[in-house]
Amino acid sequence: MEKSVLFRSLAKKADEIVKSEQDKDGKLKDICKLLKNNVSYYDWVGFYVVNPKRRNELLLGPFEGQPTEHVRIPFGKGICGQAADLRKTFIAQDVSRETNYLSCSPNVRSEIVLPIFKKGEIIGELDIDSHVRSPFTDEDQAFLKRIGEIVSPFL
Ligand code: SME
Repeated sequence: MEKSVLFRSLAKKADEIVKSEQDKDGKLKDICKLLKNNVSYYDWVGFYVVNPKRRNELLLGPFEGQPTEHVRIPFGKGICGQAADLRKTFIAQDVSRETNYLSCSPNVRSEIVLPIFKKGEIIGELDIDSHVRSPFTDEDQAFLKRIGEIVSPFL
């Protein structure tokens, strides 16, 4: 299936998950599953949320994939922490070239992290790891930005 067609259909399904009758974490977990199970090169999909008690720290939320030791990440640390600090999407097409990187698994080759905003403030992130190098295109970025907008009202 063409990427644009796939992403359109997944965005529609994410909209349906958000409207479903379940709690916040159930919805986020279902969105992680939707993305991981339908995009071949999305090998770990998870949400981090900004700690409400310490606003310069990210806490691991629902995810799909191998468990990670990185359950708390200070702003500035790793790809996630840098994206949070800069309030900008961070794409590492080859993580072996990154000096500020927190490894979750030796199989990971690339990563994309998108900050999620509410009323202009960062409230969390969507993080995706891939086992292939350089898989992320502008289409992925636009699609994942859309997913961030879909979850922002209830993250
Ligand atoms: N690799 C991330 C840490 C989180 S894991 O990918 C789940 C980083 O460098 O921030």
